[in-house]
Amino acid sequence: MLLAALLLLLLLPLPDPWSASGHPLYMRLSPSTLQVLSAQGTQALQAAQRSAQWAVKQGATELQLRLLECQGPAHPRPQAPLLQNPPEPGPCGKRRPGVANVTRAHGCIVGGSAAPPGAWPWLVRLQLGGLPLCGGVLVAASWVLTAAHCFSGASNELLWTVLLAEGPQGEPAEEVQVNRILPHPKFDPQTFHGDLALVQLWTPVSPAGPARPVCLPQAALDPPAGTPCAIAGWGALFEDGSEAEAVREARVPLLSPNSCQRALGPRLRPSSMLCAGYLAGGIDSCQGDSGGPLTCSEPGPRPREVLFGVTSWGDGCGEPGKPGVYTRVAVFKDWLQEQMNAAPSTREPSCRELLARDPPKEAPADGAGLCGFYARRCPGPEGACARLARQQCLQRRQRCELRSLAHTLLHLLRGAQELLGARPGLRRGAFALARPAPSLREPPGSATREQRLNSGPRAARVRFEKRKPEPRGDTNGCPGLEPLRQKLAALQGSHAWILWVPSEQLAMHFQEVLANLSSKTVTGLFRARVRAGLGGRRVVFSGLVGLEPATLARSLPQLLVQALRAFRSAALAQGEPPGPGVGRTGAASAQQPQGGRSAPGG
Ligand code: ARG
Repeated sequence: MLLAALLLLLLLPLPDPWSASGHPLYMRLSPSTLQVLSAQGTQALQAAQRSAQWAVKQGATELQLRLLECQGPAHPRPQAPLLQNPPEPGPCGKRRPGVANVTRAHGCIVGGSAAPPGAWPWLVRLQLGGLPLCGGVLVAASWVLTAAHCFSGASNELLWTVLLAEGPQGEPAEEVQVNRILPHPKFDPQTFHGDLALVQLWTPVSPAGPARPVCLPQAALDPPAGTPCAIAGWGALFEDGSEAEAVREARVPLLSPNSCQRALGPRLRPSSMLCAGYLAGGIDSCQGDSGGPLTCSEPGPRPREVLFGVTSWGDGCGEPGKPGVYTRVAVFKDWLQEQMNAAPSTREPSCRELLARDPPKEAPADGAGLCGFYARRCPGPEGACARLARQQCLQRRQRCELRSLAHTLLHLLRGAQELLGARPGLRRGAFALARPAPSLREPPGSATREQRLNSGPRAARVRFEKRKPEPRGDTNGCPGLEPLRQKLAALQGSHAWILWVPSEQLAMHFQEVLANLSSKTVTGLFRARVRAGLGGRRVVFSGLVGLEPATLARSLPQLLVQALRAFRSAALAQGEPPGPGVGRTGAASAQQPQGGRSAPGG
């Protein structure tokens, strides 16, 4: 509240032109607001430089490794985790001895009982930007099943992580990155029909760790009504309540499709949903439990837990006559198997895969590698089809780079929101960033000039000469070396705009944001002319800015992205890094070189 008031003060207009009617035409953001923006921009620049340095370092390491491989005895190359079928971490559905019967009949997630550590080895937590949002269930070494609605509006896999189960002795839970999110294609966000999504982990869970997969149903049949099943999660302890600190669990009986429909009306679709709980109320899953498991034990000499439901929705939490609703896993079993068994080449490469491996420019002409997916229907490695495929792959990678930038900006935005006192909900903040934004990547083929690399904390400048043709002997003796060299050169080229800024100049200065008060958009933002500087380079661009705490916070990330783009364009247009301390002017929109090449600084 205080911060919001402070921000309003910061926003007070400076003397500006006035219209004939005496109303201001323009409003200038106050110097203190510009300072806040500049600080955020500087952080964005630092993040961009760090990730560029990282990418180049990776490329250089790969090259070195290849050279070493060629020189010495063959080292087995580490396999990319997702190209092989990882071994399953032990048999499915096994709870640890001693914890099998802990689920108390009167425990509940709403007001329920805490589960002992390690009691649910398949229960995972899905986190968006590090904050818990949903539950999930480990169903194979690399796969987590959860609810599709968890990703509504936040489908950028780079923002999500999965926190695996902790061990029985409280061994810390491992956090894994997400490679791919596959919502069920028939998921309907209005009706919650098909509320199911598979999440592929970037690295499979280790058989040595405490996490274990649950069993999936073998047939499309559910256990009979009355079967006592178990739910677990970190969800709210009561409706509108805060999330639980530790895993909670409860036992709930399955209800018949008729009772479910009677209780919940036509919104309950028995073909894809089942319901479980007590008509008397009191024991139920709740907000934050979505995506978590509803498991029933399969009796037999070696009982195992089978996943029959995924927590989906409810009418309040634990209210009388309103049992919880779960997606029927059994009816989706074929889709699940199909997705988990699909050959990697039949899937579009994920952003994480594309960003971690060769840029598509270097995709082999025979259509192998990640980009091979796009060329799978082309008659041959040459020709228009193959060219188009490479183009598609390149564009996808560009979108991925933006997503990765959005990732960085999410953290920045959170910082900004705290600073500015506006706290739109986590989901809203994340959604704003998940929207596609303009590309920061250079167009292909722009890496031909000499590049300078700011290659480390000391910002020492390293010079990368334009690649000269290899003496034949070098590459002949070492197959695969040349593409790696080219890849490194391309990486240096595409990131040159940020790599060549010496660390002492790596600061963004928003000098002026002049909002046109007569240009309010439907989203509550105003058109503004922005002047900013990076080191010795100045740019001017037009953007949209909010003039109230909440709208200002919302407009920040886009302004930062635009500023970064403007600097990149200006750097490209000038073709050279600015000399230290030498002020230059480069219009963001300018694509033509402005002035000649200057001597390298530093
Ligand atoms: N949709 C909720 C979530 O996103 C789960 C609600 C479950 N509600 C219930 N009464 N069983 O976490």
